[in-house]
Amino acid sequence: MKKSFPLRHFGETIISWYHRNKRDLPWRGTKDPYKIWLSEIILQQTRVEQGTAYYHRFTETYPDVLSLASAKEDAVLKLWQGLGYYSRARNLLFAAKQIKNDFGGKFPSAYEDIRSLKGVGDYTAAAIASFAFSLPHAVVDGNVYRFLSRYFGIKTPINSTAGKKEFAELAQQLLHDHPPGDFNQALMEFGAQQCKPSSPLCDSCPLQSSCYAYKNKAVAELPVKDKKIKIRKRYFHYLIIKEDKHFYIRRREEKDIWTGLHDFPLIESEAKLSESELLSSDDWKQTFQKTKAVLKNVSEEYKHVLSHQHIYARFFEVHVSKPIQKDLAASWKR
Ligand code: ADE
Repeated sequence: MKKSFPLRHFGETIISWYHRNKRDLPWRGTKDPYKIWLSEIILQQTRVEQGTAYYHRFTETYPDVLSLASAKEDAVLKLWQGLGYYSRARNLLFAAKQIKNDFGGKFPSAYEDIRSLKGVGDYTAAAIASFAFSLPHAVVDGNVYRFLSRYFGIKTPINSTAGKKEFAELAQQLLHDHPPGDFNQALMEFGAQQCKPSSPLCDSCPLQSSCYAYKNKAVAELPVKDKKIKIRKRYFHYLIIKEDKHFYIRRREEKDIWTGLHDFPLIESEAKLSESELLSSDDWKQTFQKTKAVLKNVSEEYKHVLSHQHIYARFFEVHVSKPIQKDLAASWKR
């Protein structure tokens, strides 16, 4: 790793770049930890372009942590609709209640207390602590990993335990003596705007002459990532059960993806079922034992990609002439 370039100059260069190039984003004009927290949770797994409208909607509907703490989960999920990763919304509500009950309704200002909130990990705690309270905790998000690994020539995989430790320590060392909020925003913004994943703007980069990756033509090879996550394949056979003018939906209650959201009743399997396999499956027989079921239509297959699983979904339109079996229908709504 190359560190001969004075570390102090690194921070000064990116902070001065930041003041000239930063995007004017709504959460950058506030020191309110509640709003900063909201923005950071929304921006996990979501692009700024998409997240900004949600940020405005949330801050208008719930202007402070106490108004969020007394919201209904369904209302929060509805406002979150379209962002995905819905556990973020449920954790948001849970954490607002933690703040109300455990911190007297006042957003905590100590790092460990912030980190203790549900859904707040190292990155988010450092972001809130530094942006809202000027505490010296370095942030390391995907942009920061990429930028630091290229600039310093670090080849340790960014998703390994050793990598996480190494990058966190380096970012902390670089933060030294700089205003924490500005330094952190600058580090992330530089990664997002200048040291972009593909086609980074090396020609106009103020750090070009001291960048390891630029000098060694290794920009495209860094950062290094271990390809180790195992993707689980799931096959969802959704049943659109129509009875006269009604159809059935149900709320997902189990501890699985999309908890608390609504979808159609479904038969899941570890492999794709043919129509005849589906119609002769135990689940099908149990569902329709009290009524005649006629399969009217079968959709094409839709692939839905999540971070750790791929869902292969098909929709089966089934007509029934009377309500389906009671105990099943109890958890389903017509
Ligand atoms: N992505 C995550 N946090 C961000 C922030 N504070 N500003 C811009 N992009 C972000």
